[in-house]
Amino acid sequence: MPLLEMRDIVKEFPGVKALDGVSFTLDAGEFHSLVGENGAGKSTLMKVLSAVYPHGTYEGDILIDGSVRSFRGIRDSESAGVAIIFQELSLVKELTVGENIFLGQEPNRFGVIDWAELYHRASSLLRDLDLDLDPRVQAGSLGIGQQQLVEIAKALSKDARILVLDEPTAALTESEVETLFGILEKLRAKGVGMIYISHKLDEVFRLSDRITVLRDGRTVGTHAAAELSKDRVISAMVGREVGDIYPKPDHQYGDVAMRVSGLTVYDIDVADKKLVDNVSFEVRRGEVLGIAGLMGAGRSETLTAIFGGWQGRCDGQIEVDGIAKRFRSPKEAIAAGLGFVTEDRKRYGLLLDQTIIDNMTLASLKKVSGSFLTDRAKEAKAVSAQISSLRIKTPSAFTVAGTLSGGNQQKVVLGKWLLTEPKVLFLDEPTRGIDVGAKQEIYAEINRLAKQGLAIVLVSSELPELLGLSDRVVVLHEGRMSGEFSRQEATPEKVMAAATGQMI
Ligand SMILES: Nc1ncnc2c1ncn2[C@@H]1O[C@H](COP(=O)(O)OP(=O)(O)OP(=O)(O)O)[C@@H](O)[C@H]1O
Ligand SMILES: [Mg+2]
Repeated sequence: MPLLEMRDIVKEFPGVKALDGVSFTLDAGEFHSLVGENGAGKSTLMKVLSAVYPHGTYEGDILIDGSVRSFRGIRDSESAGVAIIFQELSLVKELTVGENIFLGQEPNRFGVIDWAELYHRASSLLRDLDLDLDPRVQAGSLGIGQQQLVEIAKALSKDARILVLDEPTAALTESEVETLFGILEKLRAKGVGMIYISHKLDEVFRLSDRITVLRDGRTVGTHAAAELSKDRVISAMVGREVGDIYPKPDHQYGDVAMRVSGLTVYDIDVADKKLVDNVSFEVRRGEVLGIAGLMGAGRSETLTAIFGGWQGRCDGQIEVDGIAKRFRSPKEAIAAGLGFVTEDRKRYGLLLDQTIIDNMTLASLKKVSGSFLTDRAKEAKAVSAQISSLRIKTPSAFTVAGTLSGGNQQKVVLGKWLLTEPKVLFLDEPTRGIDVGAKQEIYAEINRLAKQGLAIVLVSSELPELLGLSDRVVVLHEGRMSGEFSRQEATPEKVMAAATGQMI
């Protein structure tokens, strides 16, 4: 008898049948991956399991150890041994790390929270995770990767028998990923069943016993991982052969669109600490410039500082179309023709409670110069064009952005910046959390934009993506430039050597 069985689950939202009869089983000690395109229904299925959508709001049955369960809420599913790490971070930023880990299950003595015990237990959980973190610091002060690991610690504190991980590695560094995988192996040995959702097929194949593919709210199939290949999984996900996902660039370069000289960015808290140190580069019209580097190399800080969004001190010169500029705010940068798809779509990119059309036209309405997009009809038409060219899966342009699947939210952010018709577009991890089929669309879009004469600066931690798209690659190591390569020269070995500081 399987540990978990989900039978014929149907879940509808207004205008969307998110799940249309999905069945799924999990054995004790099994590592079962759930894959599928953005909007396929993966997160929804897990929200049904964990009773974010309680019994009565879906059709079908959930069985644990062979008996039907009707959970009324997350508390019920948790006491039945289900723990879930959500795709979107859900820590309470104002509380400490320790308080977050034990939220709702605080150890107490004689009815009072036992703080000493709480922090003692939090410390030992964090130690098990190899996390050098003080459980007394505020969760909101941590970076995204660390917050994600705290979520994992929180799930582990519950001694779950069924652990659901929805895109847990999207914001982790390579060593954090290794730490996580080590923990998952230990849990597997203890008999915990794990459901793992990821767009990173390398991870999926490395860990899985079985793989289930979802498409449009239906199960395409469940197979032993050993019987599958990556190509087969990809074509099952998108329903067609995908072929080579990178476009063949044949860009014509024009004038220098943006030149950055001697950019130095200082830490916000520690005076004199340089996060970016004397970085200079230029990007031409029609060129895709890739910026490579490991986590912490200063890539996002470089883009943020140029864009006028850095809260601390920064020095250096910026020219756009040969004219010296200094942006005191992102608004000024937008007015001068810059656009920025940020890595953290929630932080700068998207208003979750607003519609797609309002989100997409936000940056272009704010544009000071030009009268692009003034009437609603024109606006709606432009937004519809983005929805179809980026293949955003949504009932309409008037759908609230927060109800879209994770990857589709990212596409809305991209569409929003494309509508500002920028001269220089910064893309920071533009395909994080995006499925292969949609990635291919976005790559083709980047290539098309470069062909039209847009200058593009791309940051990506996925080396194949960076090398597959860039005409030229600049490498940063600990805030300094440690290499520059043309498309022909840029091999993964050379770029990695520069990124790890072996070439200086
Ligand atoms: N609260 C909601 N209200 C309305 N529609 C929703 C809601 N949640 C999800 N949907 C819709 O249900 C479908 C499935 O979404 P889901 O989040 O399960 O996709 P996913 O497979 O997790 O995708 P991703 O890989 O992008 O995270 C999508 O079409 C989505 O827009
Ligand atoms: Mg999801």
